[in-house]
Amino acid sequence: MTLKELLDMDLKFLLVGGKGGVGKTSVASALAISLAEEGRRVLIISTDPAHSISDSFDKDFSSGEVTKVKGIKGDLFALEINPEAAGEEISKAIGQPIESNDFSRIVGMPGIAELQGLSEDMQSMPPPGMDEALSFAKILEYAEDEFYDTVILDTAPTGHTLRLLNIPEFLDSFLGRMLKMKTFLSNAMTMVKSLFGGKQEKDRTVETLEAMKEKVLIARDQLMDPSKSQFVKVMIPTMMSIFETERLVEELNRHLIPHSFVVVNMVNPNNMECQYCSQRYKEHMKNINYIKSAFQNEDIVVVEAYDREIRGLKMLKQFSESLI
Ligand SMILES: Nc1ncnc2c1ncn2[C@@H]1O[C@H](COP(=O)(O)OP(=O)(O)OP(=O)(O)O)[C@@H](O)[C@H]1O
Ligand SMILES: [Mg+2]
Repeated sequence: MTLKELLDMDLKFLLVGGKGGVGKTSVASALAISLAEEGRRVLIISTDPAHSISDSFDKDFSSGEVTKVKGIKGDLFALEINPEAAGEEISKAIGQPIESNDFSRIVGMPGIAELQGLSEDMQSMPPPGMDEALSFAKILEYAEDEFYDTVILDTAPTGHTLRLLNIPEFLDSFLGRMLKMKTFLSNAMTMVKSLFGGKQEKDRTVETLEAMKEKVLIARDQLMDPSKSQFVKVMIPTMMSIFETERLVEELNRHLIPHSFVVVNMVNPNNMECQYCSQRYKEHMKNINYIKSAFQNEDIVVVEAYDREIRGLKMLKQFSESLI
């Protein structure tokens, strides 16, 4: 399959990920432009505090609101979520300070950690950080939303992505335990109230938890459905990047996330007059051969290193043509 065919697939979610600095944001931005220009309504989201989609488009999306990208034929929207600002909002809502961007602090609030078996969950799979929690919150929000045809997620480097992939399982188990505890507590309360004559008022917590669990499962199913979601892996032709991508593939497979594309970015062009360039080119060609054997069943897209940075609409459109 070509990337063009992938884009024609009517995907709800397109996740772009890989090692730090390999071109994830550039690929995500270029694919977003290309999809929007083909008439789809596209939202590109980044939870990277470094505000990289603004830098890539050379525009300002830092308001924390969905912003329409000007200068494109079609409907492209961008959203940069600032984990710190969102963390402050959550702090206000729960009346507790969140000092680091660590989601585990919310989960570890006094009282909650005592829940039966929860500490086992925390040990068996580290809870997500705030940025992954926010990325998944966006996946939940858009999983049932019909406004955007495609949501593109520009993910943070691999380590964060792996924690993002753990979230559905973590939440499913966490909410399951909360539900069990809640049911137990509310039965006990009903008994106490009926014994001592307290007034019975309707508690909606169980319904809320059940609805949250349902939403998590809907989003998880969409992420696992190859006709709805695809994870595009981006790498550069170096052995370090190859090894990291192999580990990423293992995790994607373990979580049943569909992924059939590898973009091999920043391949050195062949220039015999420059010894550095021809040496790099040789090394890259050798590594590309390895990539072809290591990722045999995948579609591999090779893109050259440009002689300048990929920034702004014009460069991004050119980059998207090379990709597609
Ligand atoms: N094919 C290419 N040729 C030349 N420059 C490139 C190419 N692809 C990406 N770049 C440049 O490399 C830099 C890193 O790219 P980008 O920000 O897309 O990577 P990233 O994987 O998103 O990084 P991070 O891990 O920091 O989020 C940028 O300056 C980008 O313009
Ligand atoms: Mg990036």
